[in-house]
Amino acid sequence: MTALIETQTLTRILPATVPVTLIEDVTLSIGEREFVAITGPSGSGKSSLLYLLGLLDRPTGGLLKLRGEDTAQLNERQRAELRLATLGFVFQFHFLLPEFTVRENVEIPMRKLGRLDARAMRERSTQLLEALGLAGHLDKLPDQLSGGQRQRVAVARALANDPPLVLADEPTGSLDSQNSEQVFAILDALVRERGKTVVAVTHDEAMAARASRRIHLVDGRIAAGSGG
Ligand SMILES: Nc1ncnc2c1ncn2[C@@H]1O[C@H](COP(=O)(O)OP(=O)(O)O)[C@@H](O)[C@H]1O
Ligand SMILES: [Mg+2]
Repeated sequence: MTALIETQTLTRILPATVPVTLIEDVTLSIGEREFVAITGPSGSGKSSLLYLLGLLDRPTGGLLKLRGEDTAQLNERQRAELRLATLGFVFQFHFLLPEFTVRENVEIPMRKLGRLDARAMRERSTQLLEALGLAGHLDKLPDQLSGGQRQRVAVARALANDPPLVLADEPTGSLDSQNSEQVFAILDALVRERGKTVVAVTHDEAMAARASRRIHLVDGRIAAGSGG
């Protein structure tokens, strides 16, 4: 079966007078219905790797395939479309647009992909937000919500186009333990109940232990013994 994510000797070097190696020789394969935790010390390249996998950055070497498609062959428009249809991103900070309502924030990726009409988008955003316990908050602005609620809106936005893959960069890093647990449970349910694949960077040992697999980075490389 084709892996959802496949990399071979993926490398990202920042060109500079003294070049900086962010990611080096990362070879991994991630399939459907996996919950993968990416761990490693601060500065080990966890965010850099996630940005590459999420097509927010480009490798300087190696291969990256998403759903069997070699991403190096794509032009900007194709990359944007693949990103919108295949993956959702959740960051440590919610990055919701402050001047748009909760519902509008969730509909933005749908608008960009352009596959649904206005009514279908409205139905879908309502359904997603209600499922995440935000029924009473659809027309509020992000500022009017708590931190935990905002992060759940960010999860709803990541799911807007029903992608098979959710990438999360320390999604519970700015939350208290109760809200962290709730967001973790939501990500876990996406894998178990909806067949999504979640790749989450985390500092939280308890969260990493509950993932189905762990990839540990040290100095931009996969540490020996951790599962690429
Ligand atoms: N734009 C950049 N310019 C210079 N150094 C960077 C840049 N982005 C990241 N780095 C460095 O690359 C390393 C990996 O960063 P990052 O992927 O953010 O690590 P992590 O998420 O594991 O903390 C760090 O040492 C960081 O300081
Ligand atoms: Mg980081």
